[in-house]
Formats: sequence, structure tokens, C-alpha cells
Amino acid sequence: MSNPVLRAISDRRSIRSYKAEQVTEDHLDTVIRAAQESPSARNAQPWHFSIVRNQDIIREINAEAVKNLGREGDIFYAAPVVIFISTDASGRWGRLDSGIAVENMALAAHSLGLGSVILGLPEAAFTGPLGEHFNKLLKFPEKYTFAVAIAIGVPAASKDAHPVEPGRIDYIS
Ligand SMILES: Cc1cc2nc3c(=O)[nH]c(=O)nc-3n(C[C@H](O)[C@H](O)[C@H](O)COP(=O)(O)O)c2cc1C
Repeated sequence: MSNPVLRAISDRRSIRSYKAEQVTEDHLDTVIRAAQESPSARNAQPWHFSIVRNQDIIREINAEAVKNLGREGDIFYAAPVVIFISTDASGRWGRLDSGIAVENMALAAHSLGLGSVILGLPEAAFTGPLGEHFNKLLKFPEKYTFAVAIAIGVPAASKDAHPVEPGRIDYIS
């Protein structure tokens, strides 16, 4: 069986190479709207989206993250825009709700012909000594901390579907 929703789920890939062109305002609005339309526990919508096109800021966060991770390179893959999702760390479901929202964003981006990759590694910038600085820079609301990020851009690469891990299903009767 196939329909546009199933095709989007099936065809989405993590894209780690982007063209230099910007993501349009319209497309960004659509992606954010898809996040806001996500379900959340008790409809708390415990998320905040920091949309960053400024490459100096992305570079600054990258430098701190890779330093704290003890690695090198660009964890943002030179994407023209990165959206940082923060959540109320004291809430029970904030991180799960943010994860659901970020997948809606990835699917929406894909449906618009954009590529994206969901990013956990940037967390290292927010849990290190400069964490408070970055929380403020990205205007995280009070008591909010980094949940997850997503890099988005016009894809400059394609990728095969990931192989499905076997043995992850049991039908209980
Ligand atoms: C919560 C989460 C965090 C991730 N963090 C990173 C990351 O920091 N860097 C990266 O390159 N990919 C990251 N990924 C992408 C995964 O590596 C990718 O989804 C997986 O390899 C499957 O490939 P696919 O998305 O193309 O199907 C993350 C994915 C998720 C769901």
C-alpha cells in the first residue's frame, strides 16, 4: 500500500551535504508549522524553536560541541539553517514530545524537496561550560534546555535507505 504520507516516511533520509542556497521563508514556515501540529502529552507543547541561519553562530556552537566531544569537523554539515529545539527539562515528556516534533519537521522538509538531518551531537555545546551562554544566545525560555536539533537545506547528496534491524518485533498473543 502506498500514499503520500507513507511515501514521505519511506523516502526520507538523513542528508549530510547541502547546496549553498538558502531555505525560503515559506518553506521554513511550513516546517515549523508541521512541528507545531505535532501531538504532545496533555497538549503541553513543551517546545521552543530557535531558527538559526547565522553561520557565525552555527560555527561557534560547532566549535564548542566538537571541543567537548573531543572530535573534529562540522557536526552541522554546512547546512544553511539549523533549528534548535529546546524543552522544559523538568517536564516528564518534553524530550519525547520534541522528538516527535522533529520527525514531523524532517518529513515536512522532505515533502518540500529539502533535505535534513536530525542532530543530537550539538547537545555537547549546551552541557559544557558555555551552556548558559548558548541557552541565552538561542533565546531558550527560562528552564528550557537543548532537546534536539535539525539541519535543513537543499540536498547535494542522496542516500540509500537504512537497513532495517531484524528481531525488533514480537506479536504478543
Ligand atoms: C535523536 C537522533 C539524533 C541524531 N543525531 C545525529 C547527529 O548528531 N549527527 C548525524 O549525523 N546524524 C544524527 N542522527 C541521524 C541518524 O544517524 C540517522 O537517522 C540514522 O543513521 C538512520 O538514517 P536515515 O535517517 O537516513 O534513515 C540522529 C538521529 C536521531 C533520531
